[in-house]
Amino acid sequence: MAFLDIHQLQKSFGALRVVKDFTLGIDKGEFVSFLGPSGCGKTTVLRMVAGFETPTSGAIRIDGRDVTGLPANRRKIGMVFQAYALFPNLTVEENIGFGLKVAGEDKAAIRKRVGEMLELIGLSQLGGRYPFQLSGGQQQRVALARALAPRPQVLLLDEPLSALDAKIRVSLREEIRRIQRDLGITTIFVTHDQEEALSMSDRVVVMHQGVADQVGTPFEIYNRPATRFVAQFVGTLNLIDADLVDAAAGRIRLGGVPVALNRSLPGQTGKRISLALRPETVALGRKDEGNAVVLAGTITEVHFLGAVIRIRVAVEGGLVSLDTFNQPDRPPPSIGTPVEISVSHRDLLVLAA
Ligand SMILES: Nc1ncnc2c1ncn2[C@@H]1O[C@H](COP(=O)(O)OP(=O)(O)OP(=O)(O)O)[C@@H](O)[C@H]1O
Ligand SMILES: [Mg+2]
Repeated sequence: MAFLDIHQLQKSFGALRVVKDFTLGIDKGEFVSFLGPSGCGKTTVLRMVAGFETPTSGAIRIDGRDVTGLPANRRKIGMVFQAYALFPNLTVEENIGFGLKVAGEDKAAIRKRVGEMLELIGLSQLGGRYPFQLSGGQQQRVALARALAPRPQVLLLDEPLSALDAKIRVSLREEIRRIQRDLGITTIFVTHDQEEALSMSDRVVVMHQGVADQVGTPFEIYNRPATRFVAQFVGTLNLIDADLVDAAAGRIRLGGVPVALNRSLPGQTGKRISLALRPETVALGRKDEGNAVVLAGTITEVHFLGAVIRIRVAVEGGLVSLDTFNQPDRPPPSIGTPVEISVSHRDLLVLAA
């Protein structure tokens, strides 16, 4: 059984159903991200796991024990909140030691543990400072140390990086993952930043309107999105129109060209469907591989981004963005140029509506 077991969790506020039948098992030591747009219920699920919110129905088990009815302070959970929540009138050391003091640990043990935590987050020199004397990144490190100090069995992080600027976010997310791995602590990390979720997680839960649309490794979520929402929310996506000629046999017509995908496809024979393509799977020119669709089009946009050049091509059925790598001895093509683009059959995603 999973170490943290969230079973058929539901939460309504009045008539508003915010979390609908949310089930998820998380292994010991696993790092799982909840990814989803604002208001989809991420914080609400986290607060129910922590014990700050009572589920309308469903159960939460940790290490085989039902904790659904337990108060927050008896669940052995550490939480870092969406906004900074350090105690402004306590020093860094007092903030980190707060949970231990409440638990009645003796002074010497608290001092030792606080020292370890300060070392873990690399702020040993700043133990005597107050929160207002710290940068945003330092404050979030202290919040992390404070959550970890009482040795929780589960760590919950609710968008701990959202208030920080881009550079610090990247270095801090690597640090959080390093600390999490070192301690082997089971962790849920909430974010609406897809890059954060993909780069940090063992598994990602994509949430949408109170349900988990898909649960999978970052690789699975990105390459095999289960729904149109997941495909569009995670990564850049091209959608082009096609005709579904035979759903069972996997035959479509794309830009007037018949294509045999030879796998059964969702949808109804005879209907228009949307095909999804990731920019990096589309090649400019013909691919020298048999199972590729070649489409004729015209370049409508060229964005030089440095290492990558993103080119937009109008084909019958829609606009397709594709990425090519910069080549110093070859300037990018110009707008208006007629081109061919090609995509391997396996990279044409037919999404369920
Ligand atoms: N105590 C409450 N009473 C009534 N409605 C609430 C309460 N808490 C949350 N909600 C509503 O539940 C929905 C989900 O809120 P939640 O905070 O879980 O979203 P979220 O996914 O964390 O969003 P964000 O990314 O903006 O933090 C929202 O529509 C919110 O207004
Ligand atoms: Mg939230």
